[in-house]
Amino acid sequence: MTNQLDKKSQAWSALFSEPVSELVQRYTSSVNFDKRLWQADIDGSLAHAGMLAAQGIIGAKDLADIERGLGQIAHEIRSGEFEWKLALEDVHLNIEARLTQLVGDAGKRLHTGRSRNDQVATDVRLWLRGEIDTISQLLQGLQTALLNLAAQHTQTIMPGFTHLQVAQPVSFAHHLLAYVEMFSRDAERMAEVRARTNRLPLGSAALAGTSYPLDREHVARALGMVDAHGVPQLCRNSLDAVSDRDFAIEFTSAAALCMVHISRLSEELVLWMSQNFAFIGLADRFTTGSSIMPQKKNPDVPELARGKTGRVVGHLMGLITLMKGQPLAYNKDNQEDKEPLFDTVDTLQDTLRIFAEMMGGVSVKATAMEAAAARGYATATDLADYLVKKGLPFRDAHEVVAHAVKSAQELGIELSALSLDALRSFNPSIGPDVFEVLSLKGSLQARNTVGGTAPQQVQLEIARHRQRLL
Ligand code: ARG
Repeated sequence: MTNQLDKKSQAWSALFSEPVSELVQRYTSSVNFDKRLWQADIDGSLAHAGMLAAQGIIGAKDLADIERGLGQIAHEIRSGEFEWKLALEDVHLNIEARLTQLVGDAGKRLHTGRSRNDQVATDVRLWLRGEIDTISQLLQGLQTALLNLAAQHTQTIMPGFTHLQVAQPVSFAHHLLAYVEMFSRDAERMAEVRARTNRLPLGSAALAGTSYPLDREHVARALGMVDAHGVPQLCRNSLDAVSDRDFAIEFTSAAALCMVHISRLSEELVLWMSQNFAFIGLADRFTTGSSIMPQKKNPDVPELARGKTGRVVGHLMGLITLMKGQPLAYNKDNQEDKEPLFDTVDTLQDTLRIFAEMMGGVSVKATAMEAAAARGYATATDLADYLVKKGLPFRDAHEVVAHAVKSAQELGIELSALSLDALRSFNPSIGPDVFEVLSLKGSLQARNTVGGTAPQQVQLEIARHRQRLL
C-alpha cells in the first residue's frame, strides 16, 4: 500500500525536488511534545468523520474503517506500542499515516474538508478544556483544605501585619480565608476561560472555510463544544479560528495569577515556619533536611512553589509575545504555543495538588501566635476607638494613644499592663472598662462587620464558602 505521508521524509509531494534536511526536520518537528495531544486528536477526528458520513461526504464503510483504525491506534498509543516518527513532523500526521496504513483509502478520506490548521486549533482547545476541568477540581480541593483548617481556628489569635509590622490582631481562620477568596476568584477565572476555550475551529479548514457541505454544529455537539443551554459554540471566522491562541494566553494568565497567590501563601508559610515566628509546623513529609546542619527542617515545598511561579509568569510572557505581530492567518509560530502551555498546566496542577495536602498537615502553634500579637501593641487602634466613643476626635485619640504606647515601650510592657491610673494620666475619660478593649479577644470581637475578623463573621464566611463548594 502506498502511503503518501510515509514518504514525507523524502518530499511533501510531487512539487518538491528534494527532502528537507535532517537539521530542518529536527527543527520543525513537534511530535516529541505534541504527541501529548493524541487523545484530543483522535476525538476530533472521530467527530469530524462521523459528520462527514452523516453528510454523505464519505460512505458508511469508510466511517466504520476510520473508527476501527482510530480505536486500534488509541490502543497502540496507550500500551506504548505506537511508533512515533520524527519524519512525520507532528501528532496529526503520525496518527493519520498510521490510520492509512491500517485501513487504507478510508484513512486518506479522513482529511476531507479539514486542514491541520483547524485540526491543531481544535486539539489544543479540547485538551486544554479537560485540563481546566482538572484544575477546577484541584482548586476546590485546596479551598476545602484551607476551610477545614480555618474552621478549627476562628478563635486562634495572631498578629495581622501591614508592612510586615504588627498591626491589629486577626484570627488565623480569617487569615486563611483571605486565601480562600483568592483561590475562589482563580476558579471563577478558570471557568470563564473554559467557556471561551470551548469553541470549535473545525470547519475553518486551512484559513478560508471549505467547499464541502460540512455541518459544523454536528461536530461541536459531538465534541461537547456547547454552552450551558446545549447551543453549539463555533468559532465564527475561519481566519481567526485557525490563528488566534488568545484562549491559551488567557489561560496562562489565569494560571500565572493563581501561582502568584500560591507564592504569597508560600512566603507566609516560610516565614511562619522560621524559628523567629514559630507560628506553624509543616508535616515532615513536606520538609527536607540539610546535609550539613543536623538541626534543619527546610520548607522546600513552599520555597519551590514560590520559585515555580516565576516560570509560569515566564510562560505567559512567552505566549503573549508569540502572538504579537502575527499576520492572519495560521503561521508556524503557533507550534511554539505547546511547550509553555503544557508546562504551565503541569506546574499548576502539581502545585495545587501538593498544597491541598500540605495545608491539611499544618500544625498551628496558637500560643506563639497569640504571644506575638500581644507583644506588638496590636490593640492600640482599639484604645483610640475607645476614646472616640468617649467623645474625642479621632486624630486627638490617635495622639493620646501614641503617648501611651511610648510610655509602655519605655517600661517594656504591654498597654494592658499599664495601671488604670497610668492610663488615665493620658486621658481622664479612660475608665476600668478599657481593659476589655485592650484585650486581643475584645479587639477581635469588635470587628463584627461583613468581612471582618470577629469569630461570628468568620464562621458565617466559612459556612458560605462551604455552601458554594458543594
Ligand atoms: N504542528 C503544527 C502546529 O502545532 C500543526 C499545524 C501545522 N500546519 C501547517 N500548515 N504547517 O501548529
